[in-house]
Amino acid sequence: MVARVQTVAFQGIEAVPVDVQAQFTSGIPPGVVIVGLPDKAIKESGERVKAALLSSGLSLPPRRIIANLAPADLPKEGSHYDLPIALAVMGVIGALPADALEGYLALGELGLDGRLASVGGVLPAAMAAHARDLRIICPAPCGPEAAWAGDDVEVVAPDSLLALLNHLGGHQLCARPLPRRQERRTNLPDLADVRGQDVARRALELAAAGGHNMLMIGPPGAGKSMLAERLPSILPALNPRELLDVSMIASVAGELEGGALSDRRPFRAPHHSASMASLVGGGLKVRPGEVSMAHNGVLFLDELPEFAPSVLDSLRQPLESGETVIARANARVTFPARFQLIAAMNPCKCGLAGTPGHTCKRGDACAADYQARISGPFLDRIDIRVDVPAVGAADMIGPATGEASAAVAERVKVARDIQRERYLAAGHPEIFTNAAAPVKLIETVVNPDRDSQKLMLQAAERFSLSARAYHRVLKVARTLADLAGSDQVTRPHIAEALSYRIGFAGT
Ligand SMILES: Nc1ncnc2c1ncn2[C@@H]1O[C@H](COP(=O)(O)OP(=O)(O)OP(=O)(O)O)[C@@H](O)[C@H]1O
Ligand SMILES: [Mg+2]
Repeated sequence: MVARVQTVAFQGIEAVPVDVQAQFTSGIPPGVVIVGLPDKAIKESGERVKAALLSSGLSLPPRRIIANLAPADLPKEGSHYDLPIALAVMGVIGALPADALEGYLALGELGLDGRLASVGGVLPAAMAAHARDLRIICPAPCGPEAAWAGDDVEVVAPDSLLALLNHLGGHQLCARPLPRRQERRTNLPDLADVRGQDVARRALELAAAGGHNMLMIGPPGAGKSMLAERLPSILPALNPRELLDVSMIASVAGELEGGALSDRRPFRAPHHSASMASLVGGGLKVRPGEVSMAHNGVLFLDELPEFAPSVLDSLRQPLESGETVIARANARVTFPARFQLIAAMNPCKCGLAGTPGHTCKRGDACAADYQARISGPFLDRIDIRVDVPAVGAADMIGPATGEASAAVAERVKVARDIQRERYLAAGHPEIFTNAAAPVKLIETVVNPDRDSQKLMLQAAERFSLSARAYHRVLKVARTLADLAGSDQVTRPHIAEALSYRIGFAGT
């Protein structure tokens, strides 16, 4: 007799159905053999399952059991196959009635003592179960995550194999877990702490309002990192659709703390020693990289030229397409990666090029060499470039007069609402910001007056703007108009948008 248990394999954030089939087979030695393109973690699963069953009071007969993960040509990785394999084995040895697991989808890792340990990907698995009208069995710590898939999905979240047996046997039922939300953080760093830097503050507000990429250049200690750290305090909360995408990625990466979802926008700040795999995804196990963890949020690259040039250039494709494709010999996986890039850098290696009264020891080469580490095409993808000069003594000594984050966040929210409604009315409910709007759409929604058209034409010729730069200026101008509550993009909007662009290498 073949015992079957349904589970899933993850391809990006998609949960693909996998059938675990088990039966007695001939041959020696006795034990559990796993076939169907398992990775090393799954191959070891046989030993864990044997120990967990023993700890739960079930012993395996001295025979060989084969467990097949179908479809056999789909590579499987991860430790979440332990539970479905254990359940299938229990079906084979008669510890569970053959039909007990019909209509269930199971995933979870087993400890040697029979306890269930949390695994990544429970949220997408629960969504897949919902779509296929199945019930889901997952480890207790992941229960709140599974409960988000919908009120009508039956979730069984036991803490051990024994508790699951009791539930399935009807002796002691596991209560349905409740969906959990993360507490909203109230002590985020506030913009009120930043002194001076009016231009950079304005640029930060603009970037937050339209989701634009931004680069801050300035001497050490001017407040670049400080400004970037305050961006989360002015960004609006995730809307339900964005929240689901962000949570799915965090779930697959195993980073949903306590199974609780949060509507806070992701803010990821990888160190400049980051490898390409950690940034764009992949590695030994196909897992989302920082760009995907920053989906619908912010990727902050501090000390930009210190990143390896090849690592920076690997961001060019996701910056353009909003997703990363990880190609392997036997798999091709796509993760969403629509993030807002915020970067900060010094103008040169000694950090002070351009500061009045300072001359670099190496002359112009100091700044030129340092900035050359960033490629033209990478810079071309940055919409807003802003100089952050050292703070003046008068600003530092006097009382702090900077506007607090709450007031800025309010304006950002209003501008974002305008954008969402605009794209909804244009038949694109999936677009929420000007930065995310495709080129064709932005041309139709910009609505420039004659004067600003003329200025745009002059600038395009004079500064030989690339086609990409042209559209990005339009997007920034559209956000400036949205911030001002103006329906039409006027000459001052274009002029300001251009001022953030001119002086770029590659434009
Ligand atoms: N504009 C400012 N207002 C108030 N404090 C500031 C400002 N700029 C810098 N500081 C103080 O200096 C510290 C260092 O600032 P920050 O780390 O933001 O500098 P930075 O521009 O990122 O420098 P680096 O180029 O060396 O990374 C801050 O923690 C803060 O205490
Ligand atoms: Mg810094």
